Amino acid sequence: MNKRDLTYIPDLSREDVRIIFGRSAEMKKDRTAYAGSLAGKVMALISEKQSLRTRVTFETGMYQLGGYSIYLSNHDISLGKREPVIDIARNLERWVDVIVARVFKQESIIDLAKYSSVPVINALSDMAHPCQALADLFTLEWLGHDLKGFPFTYIGDGNNVCHSLMLLSGLTGVKMTVSTPEIETYMPNKKIFEQARALARESGGEIIHEPNPGRAVQGAKAVYTDVWASMGQEKEAEIRKQVFAKYQVNAALLSQAEPGAYVMHCLPAHRGEEITDEAMESEQSIVFEQAENRLHTQKAILHYLMLG
Ligand code: CP
Ligand code: NVA
Repeated sequence: MNKRDLTYIPDLSREDVRIIFGRSAEMKKDRTAYAGSLAGKVMALISEKQSLRTRVTFETGMYQLGGYSIYLSNHDISLGKREPVIDIARNLERWVDVIVARVFKQESIIDLAKYSSVPVINALSDMAHPCQALADLFTLEWLGHDLKGFPFTYIGDGNNVCHSLMLLSGLTGVKMTVSTPEIETYMPNKKIFEQARALARESGGEIIHEPNPGRAVQGAKAVYTDVWASMGQEKEAEIRKQVFAKYQVNAALLSQAEPGAYVMHCLPAHRGEEITDEAMESEQSIVFEQAENRLHTQKAILHYLMLG
């Protein structure tokens, strides 16, 4: 088997996603499914940034599958500063069976993948958060929805999470509307937007940009948001609060979506900024279901990339 990586969503085919979602469902139904399948295998979990969900779900998942996890914070290895990323890759491949990495730059993920012979999984970079998008669209499918033609709206910053949701929507046929201010810094990356649209043309999906949040949520059966200032952008937080003021997911905005539309967020949430307390605590909110499903989908990703 050739080694497989998940550096960003287009590393997966439609068929790969089907297999991963199928196994995620088996694992969600029974946490002991596939137990022991990764016995003796070791995962290095590199993280340059903070994390609750990603660390706990990857480590718990590896444990439930019989493997072992080594957490390497920036304090431990200082990626690219203590030694180059390509040297870290060529060391780790000698000892461990999979590398999961949360990094500032997508290039670090690319280098880890290129210079190691073991699968590399992107656990968030400046450009992508593929594991999050897989958990999110799996969540909609688990709740009984056909992803083909599903009307889904993303409100806020055109960031890493938005990019992965667009690409996975394109791959799976979701009808996604992205609503960000019409200012390049806050819009999705142009190349990724075009790539997502090209995928959507093949799958029968649709990816559009609509700067007006009220118009963007019309017909939406799920409304998704993420923080306005991502990790690493803390200094821009104040200016971003002003730029995104109209892009809050709140009761008024949700009243323009389909009745009962799901409220989604990758978490952590900044209540009172991109989402109100009321929206997050409403019956429509599935944010903790999404968080739970990180565990199941990542177990399926580990299993699929490592064993096929
Ligand atoms: N959604 C997500 O990746 O959460 P963490 O940053 O806590 O891992
Ligand atoms: N866009 C956010 C996602 C956190 C899970 C960030 O990069 O900080």
